Amino acid sequence: MKKTILITGGAGFIGSHVVRRFVKSYPNYNIINLDALTYAGNLENLTDIEKFDNYSFIKADITNEHTIEQIFSDNQIDGVIHLAAESHVDRSITDPMAFIKTNILGTVILLNAAKRKWKDNFEGKLFYHISTDEVYGSLGDEGFFTEATSYDPRSPYSASKASSDHLVRAYHHTYGLPIVISNCSNNYGPNQFPEKLIPLAINNIKNNKPIPIYGKGENVRDWLYVHDHAAAIDLIFHKAKIGETYNIGGNNEWKNIDLIKVLCRVMDVKLNRNTGDSEKLITYVKDRAGHDLRYAIDSTKLQKELGWKPSLQFEEGITKTVEWYLSNQKWLDDIVSGNYQQYYESQYKSR
Ligand code: NAD
Ligand code: DAU
Repeated sequence: MKKTILITGGAGFIGSHVVRRFVKSYPNYNIINLDALTYAGNLENLTDIEKFDNYSFIKADITNEHTIEQIFSDNQIDGVIHLAAESHVDRSITDPMAFIKTNILGTVILLNAAKRKWKDNFEGKLFYHISTDEVYGSLGDEGFFTEATSYDPRSPYSASKASSDHLVRAYHHTYGLPIVISNCSNNYGPNQFPEKLIPLAINNIKNNKPIPIYGKGENVRDWLYVHDHAAAIDLIFHKAKIGETYNIGGNNEWKNIDLIKVLCRVMDVKLNRNTGDSEKLITYVKDRAGHDLRYAIDSTKLQKELGWKPSLQFEEGITKTVEWYLSNQKWLDDIVSGNYQQYYESQYKSR
């Protein structure tokens, strides 16, 4: 019998790459993409696979207990890959409650539905929870996050993701629910909503608008191309030991300001501008409240146990990303012409 895999948040940035990978690689699976289509969800991300026989879409909110229970009753779900979340740190600072609802309550509602559906036989079932390196808090100049690093979340977003991680583990220890968790570093690549640093900067450079750099631009992030994250998710879903946690990272640390300078150079070339033109748009603005200084992942466990490694060098990944945004003008225009303007005004006017 065909396996049915429920992917939540599949219309978002990472979720859409995971859905595409699974739909194309596993014709023997039924892939159900469940997404509420919030401001971050966009079915345009999936037009190339929407007609595949093994793909279906359900518009549903994971915080709606009745609907989620019904979906689990109606479908013989064998695996869940849970990506649906409120994902932007700045939004969590202005509206924490949306994060508590979706990231914590929504995750518990999914856990309960899976537990109820699978309770008689957990064999062959898996609840895979996609989490973030931000649950570990902030590093100084040295060191890396490992799977043994204590949790120390410091924003409403990371605290809500940490809570959901704890709940997923609690359902494994208390009820025996088969789970696995991965904690990944910053992703970049096609289809990322332009509220996040890289696509926001690409869009602003293209339109000759200031590139807002929080504080001094010295915060460090470990960047991973989204296809490499999707590949890691595929591997973990199929090969991980039940109950385990895996860190995923690019071993690719950049200070924000240095990353933006690389991006500016790539944009100068692609837009036929003089070298240095785009850099002139860099504008230092008020720092993010509670801004974590540095994230860096040690992904040795994933590399050694499951044989994963990132496939792209950063310069190649950032060039591909810029090319994608420049050749998908309509995708970008559809987003930035909507509520995005309002968001941008309120987020950046006081900085
Ligand atoms: P995103 O914001 O681009 O997409 C989130 C998706 O979830 C959207 O399609 C949205 O419509 C959907 N969604 C939100 N609330 C929902 C609800 N209540 N019910 C159903 N669907 C809902 O996010 P992303 O950047 O693709 O991140 C996906 C997951 O990966 C998140 O769990 C995030 O915490 C995690 N993660 C992200 C990164 C990153 O760098 N972006 C890194 C590590 C982990
Ligand atoms: O580490 C994984 C996390 O990475 C994910 O869990 C989150 O979902 C994802 O949004 C991302 O969080 P960050 O806060 O690191 O990403 P963001 O793109 O918002 O910011 C990256 C860095 O750039 C961060 O140090 C803040 C800074 N920044 C961001 C924006 C939007 C700026 O300097 N200016 C900006 O306008």
